[in-house]
Amino acid sequence: MWQSPTSTQPSVAGIPRYAVFGSPIAHSLSPLIHRRFAEQCGIALAYTAIEVAAGRLEAALSEFFVAGGSGANITLPHKLEAVSACVALTPRARRAGVVNTLKRADHGWFGDNTDGSGLVADISERLRLDLRGRRVLMLGAGGAAQGVAPALLDAGIEALTIANRTPERADHLSDWLGEPARVHTLYWQDLKDAGAFDLILNATSAGHGAQPMALPFGIVAPRTLAYDLSYGAAAVGFLSWAKAAHCAQAQDGLGMLVEQAADSFALWHGLRPPTDPVYAELRAAAQA
Ligand SMILES: NC(=O)c1ccc[n+]([C@@H]2O[C@H](COP(=O)([O-])OP(=O)(O)OC[C@H]3O[C@@H](n4cnc5c(N)ncnc54)[C@H](OP(=O)(O)O)[C@@H]3O)[C@@H](O)[C@H]2O)c1
Repeated sequence: MWQSPTSTQPSVAGIPRYAVFGSPIAHSLSPLIHRRFAEQCGIALAYTAIEVAAGRLEAALSEFFVAGGSGANITLPHKLEAVSACVALTPRARRAGVVNTLKRADHGWFGDNTDGSGLVADISERLRLDLRGRRVLMLGAGGAAQGVAPALLDAGIEALTIANRTPERADHLSDWLGEPARVHTLYWQDLKDAGAFDLILNATSAGHGAQPMALPFGIVAPRTLAYDLSYGAAAVGFLSWAKAAHCAQAQDGLGMLVEQAADSFALWHGLRPPTDPVYAELRAAAQA
């Protein structure tokens, strides 16, 4: 029941089972990433991709638990719903209010969030941008934005401005973060008067749809890093805008994807795998 038709690796009796739950999930890179990490670390595991419709996550996770699942990743659109499927949360997952990693515990799932640590690792270690003292603009206030915002604040940014298509969601996220001195919201139409930011994060899913985002060039300075949490075709529109706006650097979320996966792997196996080989493989495939 828990092994979907989109599974990318067969399960084998006696081997710990992991899976990513989401919708759509068929093109998820997580099975490949975890397979590579497992090979590097000499760990036997099976990792599959499981398609689950909105509202069905809790049932799917309890089936997976009963079937002996050892751990799971949770992706769009289930990160909020996953919280109620957990018997306990790590402090960072509690602070984020959304979950992307589950680990089997005695009586149910233990929830964590590695999106924030993954983003911060990619920006500060791979891209070598010291986040301390930076003015950050975050576009979007959905599950990904909520997951990464606490980690950005913990990394020492000076200010976080959140702009969302639906302004009430930005206000809700700002209230949730509870740091009025550093976190502000802005109406999208007021971005043109907001001045320049050191880091502009696209945490929207706009790139998956046909409706492009309208962004002014005035939010960019010559030092600005533009970073799209999306990758592949979904990142093309924002990265093209960033190049046209002369951002110092424009980066997609492939590195974050690999880093958050490594943090999930570490939670499950007690060992953080090297990320550069998998990142290089995925980057080469994306450019082929
Ligand atoms: N690299 C990684 O490891 C990683 C990890 C997590 C997520 N992501 C990516 O991050 C993106 C967001 O994921 P999510 O989980 O936060 O999704 P989500 O919870 O569905 O939130 C979507 C967000 O995008 C906004 N949005 C959608 N279409 C828009 C448009 N045309 N113009 C402006 N804003 C628009 C929504 O605004 P409203 O509130 O107005 O609807 C909302 O803020 C996805 O592309 C996902 O693949 C990447």
